[in-house]
Amino acid sequence: MSELDQESTRSLTTIDGLRATVRERYGIVAQRVAEGATTRASCCAPAEGSSGCCGSTTESWDPITADLYDAGQTAGLPAEALLASLGCGNPTALAALNEGETVLDLGSGGGIDVLLSAKRVGPTGKVYGLDMTDEMLALALDNKARAGATNVEFLKGHIESIPLPSSTVDVIISNCVINLSGDKRRVLAEAFRVLRPGGRFAVSDVVVRDGLPEAVRASMPLWTGCVAGALEEREFLDLLTEVGFENASIEPTRAYTRDDAAALLEGTGLDPALADAVEGKVMSGFVRATKPGAPASAKPVRQLETASKTTTAARSCGCDNDCCT
Ligand SMILES: C[S@@+](CC[C@H](N)C(=O)[O-])C[C@H]1O[C@@H](n2cnc3c(N)ncnc32)[C@H](O)[C@@H]1O
Repeated sequence: MSELDQESTRSLTTIDGLRATVRERYGIVAQRVAEGATTRASCCAPAEGSSGCCGSTTESWDPITADLYDAGQTAGLPAEALLASLGCGNPTALAALNEGETVLDLGSGGGIDVLLSAKRVGPTGKVYGLDMTDEMLALALDNKARAGATNVEFLKGHIESIPLPSSTVDVIISNCVINLSGDKRRVLAEAFRVLRPGGRFAVSDVVVRDGLPEAVRASMPLWTGCVAGALEEREFLDLLTEVGFENASIEPTRAYTRDDAAALLEGTGLDPALADAVEGKVMSGFVRATKPGAPASAKPVRQLETASKTTTAARSCGCDNDCCT
């Protein structure tokens, strides 16, 4: 384990330390894309301890972030937005978004889901992206300019303290960010606060099924890699209900195999044999919930799409020189 990772493991105990480590890791990824990297951010990123292109690190082929968007959906988006995509699902493909609505993306990164939402809500709608990492915000602003999006605003701040007034947002989306927070109850309470009555929570995230080995839970590389901090399914649903949401549900969207578990453990310093204990315990899911109190006059939201089937991660690292084969 590198010195950064040892230091980071100690930081798991404080929210500020945790944020600093997460910010540093995602700042490096954003910087790399801004400097003109031509391969996807999750692959070959120069993280601490990386051995380079698709080497045995947490930044090599990533079963969580690979192949989330189809080409039809991302046509017309800046390549840099796609290169910086670090999610674990595709919330805009599953969320009902209507013309004129206000959407907030928690942890918007390079802005891919913000830009996709902006197309859906149209010029009479508005999409906010909220992120704490300066490098990501700079990348997102560049991507907004490249896309010519006029109904988009990026905000700097923490998802535990959303810088928007109460009851002003129709839909909250997020893609693989809530698991990174050291205070998930506060994130969900803040999401509830800023949603309008009847507003929708429509979030992709990693969710744990039956508990993870303690060593995995304590691994900072796996925390910044979106696994160690993931909520258990029941815990996520209970927290949503406790902060006031109703109709909370989690739909599995991607299941991780033993090979995927082995890939996730690479470069973490953990015993590769732990893959057996991780297999089947981690999934990506689409989390839905509603803030009660929709006005009686509110138009019914069109039927939400559902993920047609749970996929397993397709093994393609996105490197353009066959470095993963
Ligand atoms: C895994 S990346 C996902 C980015 C984006 N949603 C996507 O799908 O590409 C996590 C992002 O969340 C941001 N983030 C993590 N924790 C945060 C927090 N507590 N408050 C605000 N932003 C946070 C990071 O800066 C990073 O840009």
